[in-house]
Amino acid sequence: MKFGWFLLAASVAALPFDSLHVLEIEEGKTIMVRETEKWSLKRKGVQFMDITNFPKLLKSKDEKAVVPVYRYPKETQCDEIVNSLSKGVDKVSMHDNLAKFTSFYTRYYKSDTGYESAVWLSEKLSNITSPLNNDVVIEHVQHKGWKQFSIIVSIKGAQTPENIVVMGSHQDSMNLLLPSILAAPGADDDGSGTVTNLEALRLYVEHLSTTGYRPNNTIEFHFYSAEEGGLLGSLDVFTRYAEENKKVVAMLQQDMTGYVEDPENEHVGVITDYTTPGLTEFIKLIIRRFLDIPYVETECGYACSDHGSATKNGFPASFVIESEFNKSNKYIHSTMDTLDRLSFDHMAQHVRLVVGSLFELGNWEFKLEEETK
Ligand SMILES: *[C@@H]1O[C@H](CO)[C@@H](O)[C@H](O)[C@H]1NC(C)=O
Ligand SMILES: *[C@@H]1O[C@H](CO)[C@@H](O)[C@H](O)[C@H]1NC(C)=O
Ligand SMILES: *[C@@H]1O[C@H](CO)[C@@H](O)[C@H](O)[C@H]1NC(C)=O
Ligand SMILES: [Zn+2]
Repeated sequence: MKFGWFLLAASVAALPFDSLHVLEIEEGKTIMVRETEKWSLKRKGVQFMDITNFPKLLKSKDEKAVVPVYRYPKETQCDEIVNSLSKGVDKVSMHDNLAKFTSFYTRYYKSDTGYESAVWLSEKLSNITSPLNNDVVIEHVQHKGWKQFSIIVSIKGAQTPENIVVMGSHQDSMNLLLPSILAAPGADDDGSGTVTNLEALRLYVEHLSTTGYRPNNTIEFHFYSAEEGGLLGSLDVFTRYAEENKKVVAMLQQDMTGYVEDPENEHVGVITDYTTPGLTEFIKLIIRRFLDIPYVETECGYACSDHGSATKNGFPASFVIESEFNKSNKYIHSTMDTLDRLSFDHMAQHVRLVVGSLFELGNWEFKLEEETK
């Protein structure tokens, strides 16, 4: 233990500067800490948004962004195509992608290998979407202060492109003991969500390119950088979207999709705190229709993943995790978050969730709830 503290102290002393950060640890409650204290808070299980560079997000209760209440589908319409595509989930390619993604020593957002993993991911996305030619745009979102960029894949809607449906996950990983020094394979957190979205995108593109079908709304896949730093990448993305008056009508996060603690009781966890109730009801419908396993409602606390950056900026968002929160993977943020502990069958269930959501929301005519009354 003493040795551990010595190492920690040595790494602190080695930092060129240990700057102050403003962390929001509950809605409206902020604290100021040094960078190294961020990680010790995280080790204690304290979750936060690092809003140091987003002072505008520090609003009082009456000023803060309100998430509009949209009407979401009450029934599914695309069962045939979703069920047919779900049969084509390629678990071998998901395995290969995750093996490659976890082979980077760490995907810590400030590290060189974290940058290299983003370059690999971007190339993989180009390959997957290449059949769409000019109908897809891949954007690198550069962030101020660290190298790993976020990636946005956008398929423009044919009728109502202003309505944006977002499928999210984070690409960075982190070893919480010594982020700049120790390995962080991040297989479950959040390599699993990354390959889940990669596979859903692959199936979607396959359908679009073979049928010529295009969704009415714009579909985006977001691969955020620096989630582990306090939702930094997604805060940057959604704050920009809000400033540009973009209209995200639904955001669904995949963060940890591969761990099954109790195979006798396999399920997914629908997060009910700090998510958007109407959208979450719709997500439950998708699970009932398209998954082979049930859901359990569960809570994960404030700022537990990137969907929090969406709602913070006034965009509706939901989050489905691998299981009830207290049964989720205990090995994350360490060298033990490895691929051999994960179930690709379980990840395939999350792929169905994404594919189902894409088809049902891609053509949905978005109206505010009050307009329909
Ligand atoms: C993308 O495709 C090219 C050409 O087939 C291949 O050489 C390259 O390895 C692929 N990249 C990734 C990341 O899969
Ligand atoms: C996990 O959470 C559920 C629901 O809050 C609770 O009923 C259960 O006892 C918890 N299990 C453990 C192992 O803490
Ligand atoms: C897509 O938009 C067109 C034009 O507004 C509309 O006619 C069509 O019904 C929409 N598609 C679906 C599946 O709602
Ligand atoms: Zn994490």
